[in-house]
Amino acid sequence: MQAHADAQRKAGRRIALVPTLGALHEGHFALIRAALEHADHVVVSVFVNPTQFGPDEDYDAYPRDLEQDREKIDRLGADALFAPTVEEMYPAKQSTSGAIDPLTWVEVERLDEHLCGRYREGHFRGVTTVVAKLFHACKPHVAVFGRKDAQQFVIIRRMVEELLFDIEIVGVPTVREEDGLACSSRNAYLSAGERQQATVLHDAVQAARKQIKQGEQQVAPIVESMQSALAQAPDAEVQYAEVVDAEQLQPLDEIQAGQQVIAAVAVFFGETRLIDNAFVRAPA
Ligand code: PAJ
Repeated sequence: MQAHADAQRKAGRRIALVPTLGALHEGHFALIRAALEHADHVVVSVFVNPTQFGPDEDYDAYPRDLEQDREKIDRLGADALFAPTVEEMYPAKQSTSGAIDPLTWVEVERLDEHLCGRYREGHFRGVTTVVAKLFHACKPHVAVFGRKDAQQFVIIRRMVEELLFDIEIVGVPTVREEDGLACSSRNAYLSAGERQQATVLHDAVQAARKQIKQGEQQVAPIVESMQSALAQAPDAEVQYAEVVDAEQLQPLDEIQAGQQVIAAVAVFFGETRLIDNAFVRAPA
């Protein structure tokens, strides 16, 4: 992959990278289309990264279908698929238990204290570590991420800035199904009934957006609206409904005029965990 990237750079091409876990859907397609607009040579990586899954999460069950992903990538007109093995991405795997046990991590502090980070210990450290490795492997000029994973997006942007990666980060708005549910590989786990109820996540963040845009500055009533939208789904178990500052990702009591915030929710339907969010700028 590195030799391939070097050759592209030598030919004067601008490389875009779209990192994914695979099981590609419309959300990923939008990232690939954005990448095609920003570069001459688009690389899509497919790698189910073990270090970002917790011990009780769905690493083994995560959907994998490389042949289908290859076809989709091809059809969209991307140029290369990078699908490394775990051994390639974690070469210093030397623990006696056979567990993946790297000694080198990339960690962005503090930004993982709230939202998903609070409930998924070590998740973002796994994400930033693998994304840094993918950058070294694929040597992109530009990398494309979805705003659907708002905390991930903010953390990666911060990592790139602080580690002086010479890479432009592009953020793509969330792609949704017709009824508003954000596209996600995990939607496939939902039963028909859960799938119907799952629109409450979008309802909740839309309710927050509306209130903030109407000038509500107190966070408590905004969170209340999100909670009551989520309560419309009898099978939803809410993990969090929060409003945080869009850069520091710290919870707020009061939104300042002109401040950009993220209203975000995470909900379980049975074992399936779904997230949604809205980036909202308060009126000046
Ligand atoms: P994955 O969940 O496969 O998502 C890959 C990229 O697609 C991420 O940037 C994500 O935000 C974006 N994406 C997913 N659903 C989207 C939607 N409905 N609309 C817009 N963008 C969407 O996120 C990861 O993989 C991994 O953590 C990764 C960055 C690849 C590191 O392992």
